[in-house]
Amino acid sequence: MLTNPLTKNISKENTAADITQYLDNDGYQGWRKAHSMVPDDIINLVKDGGLRGRGGAGFNTGLKWSFVPRGEGSPEQKFVVCNADEMEPGTFKDRLLMERDPHLLLEGMAIAAYAIGASIGYIFIRGEYHLAAERLERAIEEAKSQGLIGKNIFDSDFSLEIFVHRSAGNYICGEETALLNALEGQRAIPRAKPPFPQVSGLWGKPTVVNNVETFCNIPHLVAYGVDWYRGLGVGQDAGSKIFGVSGKVKNPGTWELPMGTPIREIIEQYAGGMRDGLRLKGFLPGGGSTDFLGPDHLDLPMDYDVIGKAGSRMGTGTIIVLDDKTCPIGLVLNLTQFFARESCGWCTPCRDGLPWIVKVLQRIESGEGLPEDLELLHEQCKRIAPGKTFCALAPGAAEPIQSSLKLFEQDYIDHIKKGCCPYK
Ligand code: NAI
Repeated sequence: MLTNPLTKNISKENTAADITQYLDNDGYQGWRKAHSMVPDDIINLVKDGGLRGRGGAGFNTGLKWSFVPRGEGSPEQKFVVCNADEMEPGTFKDRLLMERDPHLLLEGMAIAAYAIGASIGYIFIRGEYHLAAERLERAIEEAKSQGLIGKNIFDSDFSLEIFVHRSAGNYICGEETALLNALEGQRAIPRAKPPFPQVSGLWGKPTVVNNVETFCNIPHLVAYGVDWYRGLGVGQDAGSKIFGVSGKVKNPGTWELPMGTPIREIIEQYAGGMRDGLRLKGFLPGGGSTDFLGPDHLDLPMDYDVIGKAGSRMGTGTIIVLDDKTCPIGLVLNLTQFFARESCGWCTPCRDGLPWIVKVLQRIESGEGLPEDLELLHEQCKRIAPGKTFCALAPGAAEPIQSSLKLFEQDYIDHIKKGCCPYK
């Protein structure tokens, strides 16, 4: 039975599955099957399959779809939106899927659109992902020419148009409500939630926003069913996932593996372990906006709730490894500079708080830190905690800072005491 549904079309020889290759390899079978089903049954199947959002938050996908109002009195126009604004530091999994197997994403979006009754889909793609955007645009034309999307699909009264929208470029556009504002041509700032987009999204209409990898899970889940899908995972969570590793390992990259694969296996077996002469000091399990974990956590399985209980988040599942010769404060400073630059400026704690943290981190890293700076950093992180800001950007930015203060406290103290960066 198939164990790599996300990457089965991706091989060295296959540079980008065109529609002939895709159809020859059972492509669009999930869509054909879904189209013969009652929409509610598709939603229940996705819910029961246990697919959790692969953008980082891990919300149950079928449950999200089920919030879309249906039936009499509900708005006629609904939208399905793919969040392809992949900008989380260290994250490069959606790009692989879009560049190498664009039809898998279109197929997943078609099933989602049919399940919730949407007739228009948008792929909101990171501005720098030129190749992925071109391949998706080509794939849309191919799928249209085969009657798989477009007007009166499979001779039914269901029609679906999908458009690629290139982002003008800002990390905050990946926040789903800022993304919707950007699509509407407004300034990309997050909206208050609730209402959630499923009820009031694009132009106030019901909208489902899912990540690229989430959509890519749908065709095979529908084609092969709940038991098969759940069986792909080796831990608590269902399905497979594209995990990745970056940092000073021998073989950085991405691999499709079962959900629940132990972190040690991903880093040591797939990423080849640390480069010669280096030891693992810590790692961010799911992109730059997650908490550091240490070597003691290496045997944990990559499952959402397990990583959550350990004090971090699985996020995008792309691990950033920190070695013992790289300054942890330098790494945290680099990440915080990114988040400060990418703040949309809408709320004060994020707009003003992050640059202040950058200043303090810079002071410590350059050897001019004061003993009271550690307390100051703790205090500043509290001011951008969840609930204090409009969206998850600043609380996410605080995660590596707070956890580094705990795990690498001695490094901070050494910088301040020695008046220089001991790693240089
Ligand atoms: P969230 O937990 O607020 O929402 C996740 C999804 O579930 C959303 O689609 C939301 O509409 C839905 N949802 C949550 N609670 C709901 C409720 N009560 N009723 C109805 N729907 C509900 O998380 P958020 O702020 O959307 O995303 C944060 C995550 O994004 C972080 O975990 C971070 O790792 C990830 N991220 C990923 C990036 C990437 O490039 N892939 C970039 C930045 C952040």
